[in-house]
Amino acid sequence: MKYSLKCTSCGSIYNSKSNAYRCNKCNSILEVDYKYPTEMDLGNGEIKHSKYKQLFPISGKLLSLGEGGTPLIKHKINASDLILKLEADNPTNSFKDRGSSVEITKAIELGFKEVCCASTGNMGFSIATYAKKFGIKCTIFLSKDAKIEKIEKIKKAGAEIVEVKGDFNTALETAELFSKVNNVFLCGDYHYRKEGQKSIIFEIFDQLGKLPDFIFLPVGNATLLAAIYKGMKELKRLKITNRQTRLIAVQAKGCDPLVRAYNQHKKLTYMHSTTEADAIAVGYPTFGFEGLEALRESKGLALSVSDRELESARKALHKSRVYAELGGVASFAGALKINKVHPSWFKDKTVVCLITGNN
Ligand code: F0G
Repeated sequence: MKYSLKCTSCGSIYNSKSNAYRCNKCNSILEVDYKYPTEMDLGNGEIKHSKYKQLFPISGKLLSLGEGGTPLIKHKINASDLILKLEADNPTNSFKDRGSSVEITKAIELGFKEVCCASTGNMGFSIATYAKKFGIKCTIFLSKDAKIEKIEKIKKAGAEIVEVKGDFNTALETAELFSKVNNVFLCGDYHYRKEGQKSIIFEIFDQLGKLPDFIFLPVGNATLLAAIYKGMKELKRLKITNRQTRLIAVQAKGCDPLVRAYNQHKKLTYMHSTTEADAIAVGYPTFGFEGLEALRESKGLALSVSDRELESARKALHKSRVYAELGGVASFAGALKINKVHPSWFKDKTVVCLITGNN
């Protein structure tokens, strides 16, 4: 589908061949603005990420390692049935592979031989793996708190690693500068990743035959939240469904800037992280404004969970042989928390929890 790039704040338009990732005029992030047809259907092919290529900004072949098609499984908490979507079943054990497939395809389509990316770990491992597979060079910028297990995986995948003296947001600034100075394609939480991550909501729709009532999801940069909301708007716009899902964003108490901004009706501000849930330790979410809009417009909720609540959610899933890291179970920890206070809340509702990773 034809598209241009549009600034999410001032509306400035950029050509689809542009390598811009922020607006030259106001520095806000961009989004992919398609020339949508009046109607479309999702087709009948096998349910997996590549099935939704027509809703990605890709004109040629989509580079793929078989992402998506992840299972939905039922999980009972007290009297309620939840549905877990197991994103650790992706090639590099997290939902990040959906975005990496689109970003690496785009980098190569635009003629780049090298990519870089700032990450708390999972996105770095994913991008490093795709870059190696499709034959391009890769540098990953990590915060000083990145976990050793993730650093080892990224190294093994063949990427160059730069550990910055600071947190994720310092790593992000460094990666943006590196990409500009060296003319290297910048991967990470920007418009092309957001497009790839939409496939999760298309899959849920195809797997359930409808959109659920609630989706609980962990939030770091809020790209996943913004992507799901954009995907839902597309389903509506293309006359595929009119149903609306309420999005429930869950952050770790030790790093919950989006939850605070949403619940206190305040401006989004940077927060120093103290959580052990390294994957979602993002002090200032790149897609914060879009994330807040997704919550407001979907009549969503935002809540924080303590590291202890994350750990007990992780253990509870482990008992049922669902394996995930702390950040990846924030969704489930949030659902447990709400279920404890309002057990009737989930009655007769279809509730999906995204279990986002296990590295
Ligand atoms: N779950 C996992 C396992 C993650 O790794 C992340 C983000 C999220 C959820 C949150 O997604 O950022 O779109 O709100 N990880 C990034 C990374 C920051 O670098 O791997 P988000």
